[in-house]
Amino acid sequence: MCGIFAYLNYNVNRERRYILEVLFNGLRRLEYRGYDSAGISIDSSLSASLSRDPNSPLSLRVPPLVFRQEGRIESLVKSVYENVAATDLDLEESFCAHAGIAHTRWATHGEPAPRNSHPQTSDPGNEFLVVHNGVITNYQVLKETLVRHGFTFESETDTEVIPKLAKFVFDKANEEGDHGVTFSQVVLEVMRHLEGAYALIFKSQHYPNELIACKRGGPLLLGVKEFSEGIAASSFHDFNVLKNGKPKELFLSSDANALVEHTKKVLMIEDGEVVHLKDGVVSIFKFDNDKGKNCGALSRTASVQRALSILEMEVEQINKGSYEHYMQKEIHEQPESLKTTMRGRLIRGGSCKAKSVLLGGLKDHLKTIRRSRRIVFIGCGTSYNAALAARPILEELSGIPVTMEIASDLVDRQGPIYREDTAVFVSQSGETADTLQALQYASENGALCVGITNTVGSAIARNTHCGVHINAGAEIGVASTKAYTSQIVVMAMVSLAIAGDTISNQERRDAVIDGLYDLPNKVRDVLELDQEMKELAKLLIAEQSLLVFGRGYNYATALEGALKVKEVALMHSEGMLAGEMKHGPLALVDENLPIVVIATRDACFSKQQSVIQQLHARKGRLIVICSKGDAASVSPGGLCRIIEVPQVVDCLQPVINIVPLQLLAYHLTVLRGYNVDQPRNLAKRELLNELFISRLRLLGQVILMMLLLALKVKAYVERPQVNRDEDRTLLRTLQNVPPVEGPLEQEIVGQSAGEQTGGWQGEGVLNEETPSVLLPELAQTQLELPVNPANTEGNAGLEERPESPISSSRIPLTEVALSVSFISVRS
Ligand code: UD1
Ligand code: BG6
Repeated sequence: MCGIFAYLNYNVNRERRYILEVLFNGLRRLEYRGYDSAGISIDSSLSASLSRDPNSPLSLRVPPLVFRQEGRIESLVKSVYENVAATDLDLEESFCAHAGIAHTRWATHGEPAPRNSHPQTSDPGNEFLVVHNGVITNYQVLKETLVRHGFTFESETDTEVIPKLAKFVFDKANEEGDHGVTFSQVVLEVMRHLEGAYALIFKSQHYPNELIACKRGGPLLLGVKEFSEGIAASSFHDFNVLKNGKPKELFLSSDANALVEHTKKVLMIEDGEVVHLKDGVVSIFKFDNDKGKNCGALSRTASVQRALSILEMEVEQINKGSYEHYMQKEIHEQPESLKTTMRGRLIRGGSCKAKSVLLGGLKDHLKTIRRSRRIVFIGCGTSYNAALAARPILEELSGIPVTMEIASDLVDRQGPIYREDTAVFVSQSGETADTLQALQYASENGALCVGITNTVGSAIARNTHCGVHINAGAEIGVASTKAYTSQIVVMAMVSLAIAGDTISNQERRDAVIDGLYDLPNKVRDVLELDQEMKELAKLLIAEQSLLVFGRGYNYATALEGALKVKEVALMHSEGMLAGEMKHGPLALVDENLPIVVIATRDACFSKQQSVIQQLHARKGRLIVICSKGDAASVSPGGLCRIIEVPQVVDCLQPVINIVPLQLLAYHLTVLRGYNVDQPRNLAKRELLNELFISRLRLLGQVILMMLLLALKVKAYVERPQVNRDEDRTLLRTLQNVPPVEGPLEQEIVGQSAGEQTGGWQGEGVLNEETPSVLLPELAQTQLELPVNPANTEGNAGLEERPESPISSSRIPLTEVALSVSFISVRS
């Protein structure tokens, strides 16, 4: 995934050097999201001075500067300053108003290279520039259309279509004499044509000192720092803060990490919102592409009033402090993060000394959950492992069957989910695409959806019916550590809350609650193994492979320990269920392969002793994690390497046992010389997934069917084009598009403009009602056009662009026409 950032100063003088540093720092905070290339755009001197005169012709303006560099943020920084030194760019030049954008990339479409880095541009003159996080699924058809309109592409990215589409929309408006088209009108029109998940920031030479942000899918926040005196704290939630046009600095970021050092006043931009920053004013428009989908109704936009929130995050949380790496810091933070996770949620005392758990986000839903036929845990990677660790205690305390689902697998299989199910979505980021899709699927199937996430305001937190924030604090290292232990603790608390306070389970509940109270101290004790794990890492540094055996509560520990070693130390590592050892893995055992066996005290202890005996008998090279004082019981002949950990109540033991494995992975990585915070090919949030690939596959099948259908209904396909309503002066359909070659026939179903009744109403109110459709088609790129029932009946009906290319009936086309409609401005 990528990180996007922008900085706009309004009526506050800032030197170019300062602006650059703010952008670079923003990128450094977001680097964990992607780090194979980066870029920024700032104004050049002439464009800045002319920008004070809004009427200055474009020909006199100097294009914004764009710097793009392969590699990490620091190589971008170096190349920018080298470039500055080689030119006469004045770093001390002051700007009263300025808009800069920045991007850190994790390559998906096209290799890491300057041409594929962002900002992506509309043309050599950089009239429109875009930074993008996410994926545009219909970029191919847009690209082919734009190519036919004379655009040339220089990158392999999906993003490049966006600035080019913006330029196309802008140019058409001006050609038609609409010289007053606003930046937000252009972007709303562009957004109408985009499919996929994205967060975008636009900068344009035509709209100096303005920025537009919009999103559908990816996270995006606006930070507001005001400079006016006398702004009382109570005005934080006042919408006027966004509207007053007073001196201020505005920041846009994929993540709160990059905002908190500037301001804690933030607005979480929601899906479908377009945020326009202009003259110190923040205008927000809602674009709802779903409304009236496929039923001929109109899409609408309207202005939105939103209040700011205050970030509950401290700057220290995003700094490394005295640690060398974020992963190291986050491992050592666990005693504190666990306390924060439990704060205010454990209750012990009162007259009868009752012990209980209070989860504010769940209390109103406990009855429904208790009545569930089944609880389904759903997650990916570490979050899945955390759920697996918590499953036994939930089953035991609730008596409800608990099943596990890897999010992508559930979606692939379209596995059964019922109304009587409670589906629990576990995700640190709350933004993982696979988990989000599974959430949408479960929600459509009527299940009660519960979220367990670290990120307040994330898509999962917003789209679940209820849930619990784990409150572990910002986790910046790509490998999840403190979030994992906090997730287990939250799920143990969820189990206690569901169990209620029946007499039969009181003793067990009390033991778990006591264990939770004491857990941070025990984690502090186990962290003292740091040096010991470093020594072990030195012994394993040159190994090719590592196996980890666990069972019961600690099967999850084996999977998670192996995942940590795999993802950061780049060493092959497998977590295995010890009960399965003799059904395959035993064949691997010899005197060379290092094997970690988790054998702390619980109901499975004697079985693990037996596993150790069998591995030892085959000369296995064993490292055993056991409870303090158990060394002799788990090391036949004293030949195993022993790691002793504090013993806690069985269901919380995974929290303790994972810590030495986290430390081992950390030290192995550092000793092997790899980047521990930003491992190769991984980024913290996996927003991309295979959905669009599978959609393309499905689309292929649909196309085949359509081809057959096309043969059969040739006469139908050859029917005359539907008349366009020429009176709709704001609807432009390009007439000069050369036909593409291909076996299929052309049909351009121009959407009738319908009633363009809307417009800007008063200050910033957008009430646009004209659907604008990029009429995608074409044989070669395998896209089709949805049939507009109104049109086929000869009516001047309206049709909204379908969100999914596979969801509606369609006929094949051979040519693309780009129809652009504009929002009328009411005076
Ligand atoms: C809330 C406050 C916390 C405050 C506490 C005191 C928030 C975010 N939390 O915490 O600052 O100290 O009350 O009473 O304001 N939710 C979901 N899905 C999720 C996660 C959460 O729907 O994935 C919902 C919950 O159902 C709840 C809300 O978000 O309605 C807040 O959840 P959580 O922070 O866990 O609630 P509290 O612990 O009560
Ligand atoms: C993957 C990360 O992309 O997503 C894993 O590489 C992570 O480390 C997984 O565990 C799930 O992320 P989240 O945010 O949903 O817990």
